[in-house]
Amino acid sequence: MTGSIHLEDKHVELFLRDLIDRYGYDFTSYSRPSLKRRISRLILLDKFPDFISFQLRVENDAEYFKRFVEQITVNVTEMFRDPLFYKTIREQILPVLQNLPAIRIWHAGCSTGEEVYSMAILLQEAGLLQKSLLFATDINPLVLEKVKIAAYPISHIRQDAENYEHSGGMNDFSTYYKVQGNTAKFDEGLRKKIILSTHNLVSGHPFNRFHFILCRNVMIYFDKELQERALNLFDESLEYQGFFALGAKETMKFATIKKRFKQVDNKEKIWRKVNDHP
Ligand SMILES: C[S@@+](CC[C@H](N)C(=O)[O-])C[C@H]1O[C@@H](n2cnc3c(N)ncnc32)[C@H](O)[C@@H]1O
Repeated sequence: MTGSIHLEDKHVELFLRDLIDRYGYDFTSYSRPSLKRRISRLILLDKFPDFISFQLRVENDAEYFKRFVEQITVNVTEMFRDPLFYKTIREQILPVLQNLPAIRIWHAGCSTGEEVYSMAILLQEAGLLQKSLLFATDINPLVLEKVKIAAYPISHIRQDAENYEHSGGMNDFSTYYKVQGNTAKFDEGLRKKIILSTHNLVSGHPFNRFHFILCRNVMIYFDKELQERALNLFDESLEYQGFFALGAKETMKFATIKKRFKQVDNKEKIWRKVNDHP
């Protein structure tokens, strides 16, 4: 597949409005250049003659709409992504959370679940998994199916094991999975504490109160206004003294909620809620 096709702004805007009416999914606050790039790529990939034929298919074929969502939202992830981030969780966050009678963690935009299983491994190694619940949510139901199955390509395992080691992991990483064909199937014991649900940060409401919320490499695709809205949702969903984490390239610098938060570490994007709502 090569090249790209030109998309008229007004056609894209109308298309996005139609999707709200037809499916209740609102992509109007996603950053335009990346959204248009992905639409154009999908049109070429699936060999539509033009934008209008693509639009008709998405709007009239609910199965194809799932593919659209999968391709428009970026699902790239890996285990122990940014290993030093996980090292900070081991060293600075878990020693605080361990004092709680029960720990609730929310992974918003968890994709295929590598981030959630990484956290489950950290909790297990700290002896905290039994009293923890990990809520894993994503807009895309297809990725959540993969979290449930927990079988990841064996071709990624060397990188995952290296990341695990750099995060301060002391075990042999292979104790956490069994090789099945060309996949590494992760331990059932880790899965038991993970609760899966579709949740859309554009339209979703708070559904629980958490001690730690992670939303990494998700808001990077949102415009400023939607970022602000999602941050308010996280603030409302976070317990006083709870922790909040973003991806390496993301920031809270311009957010109104920033005044209630203090960065835990000067390198990693982890904050603590130090002031509660008035
Ligand atoms: C690049 S992945 C990040 C995965 C993981 N958090 C990480 O950092 O490795 C972004 C995820 O955000 C999800 N996402 C995009 N828009 C969303 C929305 N409005 N609500 C919830 N999840 C969304 C995508 O489906 C995708 O799985």
